[in-house]
Amino acid sequence: MAFKYFIYKGVRYAKDAYTEDALSFAENEFEVFDDDVFNITYPKSGTNWMTEILNLIKHDGDPTICQTVPIYVRSPWLGTLRFMDQMRNLTRPRIISSHLPYHLLAKSLSKSKAKVVYTIRNPKDVIVSLFYFTKILSLFKANDDFQKCIDGFFEGTDMHGSWFDHIKGWMQMKGDRRFFCITYEELLKDHRGSVVRLCEFLGKELTDAQIDSIVQHSSFSSMKDNKMSNWSLLPPEVLDHTKGSVLRKGVSGDWKNHFTVAQNEYFDKVYQENMKDLNLSFCWEQE
Ligand code: A3P
Repeated sequence: MAFKYFIYKGVRYAKDAYTEDALSFAENEFEVFDDDVFNITYPKSGTNWMTEILNLIKHDGDPTICQTVPIYVRSPWLGTLRFMDQMRNLTRPRIISSHLPYHLLAKSLSKSKAKVVYTIRNPKDVIVSLFYFTKILSLFKANDDFQKCIDGFFEGTDMHGSWFDHIKGWMQMKGDRRFFCITYEELLKDHRGSVVRLCEFLGKELTDAQIDSIVQHSSFSSMKDNKMSNWSLLPPEVLDHTKGSVLRKGVSGDWKNHFTVAQNEYFDKVYQENMKDLNLSFCWEQE
């Protein structure tokens, strides 16, 4: 994936979107409140979907906020250049999105009771989603070679570094009562059940009708049609809407339409090697 970048504490960040000052602020100065909810992901893993769900839970299923305030304003990305301004307008409990690695936020989180929702997606589908995303986001130089995307993924040279390091870092919180880990595939398989479990984790007691509203308004079709959630308000010089959409397909297993047999075998081999010490299995592995 080609983009202008700088390295902060061993990880690549896109110039123009992130700055060293903003990352340093996130790491050292950002004051975490006990009622904060962090929506953490590796890019293209369902960040926006979880943002929508968490905002709807916060507002008891009322979609007004999601239909009137852009998704990147109601839950801005910690570590980005604009976060420091955007955070001033957040109401509590704040829902903060971030792709930052655990080691940057560990210090701030350890001093608070803030909760972390960590969404993971089948990395093969992450690569596919990223492949298409690079075609629309102007930060990237468009790349038509899918193999290059796979190479970048394994070399850890993509924006936000290695997927494996991201997982290994955040999984250090596994077992902590403030940590909730879910896969994109679980969300797809059981959207309502996942919302119910999230409500339990967040200590929110909602009625069946409120839960139904959350599920309805965070569905792929609702979000794709909602200009506050589909990023269509961003100007064409930032996001080329003629070439695709952030809400592209919203399915699991699209990798099967992109990986060759050889790429898939190679991927599985390297994946096993990297994950063998983690003692974790994820829902997508049974797909
Ligand atoms: P695809 O490109 O495979 O369609 P992120 O928000 O982390 O950037 O992730 C983007 C991916 O999440 C895209 O995947 C997008 O379609 C998918 N997504 C966003 N909202 C969704 C929803 N409500 N239901 C299912 N998938 C969703």
